[in-house]
Amino acid sequence: MDAIDWSNLSFGYMKTDYNVRCYYRDGKWSDPELETSEYINLHMAATCLHYGQEAFEGLKAFRGKDGKIRIFRMRENALRLQSSCRGIMMAELPVERFEEMVLLAVKKNAHFVPPYESGASLYIRPLLIGTSAQVGVKPAKEYTFLIFVTPVGPYFKEGFKPTPMVIMREYDRAAPLGTGTYKVGGNYAASLRSGEKAHEMGYSAVLYLDAREKKYIDECGPANFFGIKDNTYITPKSESILPSITNKSLMQLAEDMGMKVERRPVLEEELATFEEAGACGTAAVISPILRIDDLSENRSYHFSKDGKAGPVSEKLYHKLRAIQYGDEPDKYGWVTVV
Ligand code: PLP
Ligand code: COI
Repeated sequence: MDAIDWSNLSFGYMKTDYNVRCYYRDGKWSDPELETSEYINLHMAATCLHYGQEAFEGLKAFRGKDGKIRIFRMRENALRLQSSCRGIMMAELPVERFEEMVLLAVKKNAHFVPPYESGASLYIRPLLIGTSAQVGVKPAKEYTFLIFVTPVGPYFKEGFKPTPMVIMREYDRAAPLGTGTYKVGGNYAASLRSGEKAHEMGYSAVLYLDAREKKYIDECGPANFFGIKDNTYITPKSESILPSITNKSLMQLAEDMGMKVERRPVLEEELATFEEAGACGTAAVISPILRIDDLSENRSYHFSKDGKAGPVSEKLYHKLRAIQYGDEPDKYGWVTVV
């Protein structure tokens, strides 16, 4: 293996030694198997290919100063995958099996967990797909669950530096009673066109409004939204956004810091009153927002005067990272030491 430049990793794919898989057939999940191939042998009529019957997860492992590897809140990801399975009619994977396979994937690829000093981490990507052949629009009878891991750096290449985001009213990501609350591939396909357009215009991400009324803030393509004002952490409540585990953690940490926490519908106009704003997620961690432009309305909201993250975002970011890397005690049992 060539030496890895740990401090300059991007959020990309790199081959590691093993992935782990198990299969659902005849109403039962098989035992986990270790695999070295990066490929899947798939029937051309598999439901995941034609009808989007697939869900995925994203979580991270971190190497601490003590050399130990810590995985952040994996039980939450296991439960959210089960929710996605119910959402698109797939066989549910037991939580214990999910956890066992995450641990196996991390242990078998332990030398790919970046060193503490690099600030990088090991991204863990579980994937569940419908594999049996079907041409009618029906759920599959058979499923494959697999986990691969890959070392990553920041999702937004600017890292913790605030970046501009954009509201594009001509695109929606997810419908109110659709699949927005599930982590299924179709939502991400729906965000590609607007996302690429935003990147071409120099924005780091699209901030979607609610699709029904176009009045409320939903979330970014790959992360939830939060705003800070008057010592309050405010984050949208919506039927079409993913329940972010990072956001849930930040709400707890904000409360611990003596802040008020509000999870409620957030009108776009309210952006004008926020002192700070950010996107949060496993990949994004906290990505502070510099400015949000609502293009068709010709409006802009500014959150940083000096191009730096605000004090609350900064504090939350360091607190979260300190728990993830094991620098601070894990008061809530969020961390699994491998
Ligand atoms: N929203 C969307 C659409 C996402 O893809 C993600 C990433 O997982 C998040 C929010 C953040 O969720 P989490 O903090 O659980 O990673
Ligand atoms: C994550 O944060 O884990 C995500 O899945 C976001 C993105 C890479 C799709």
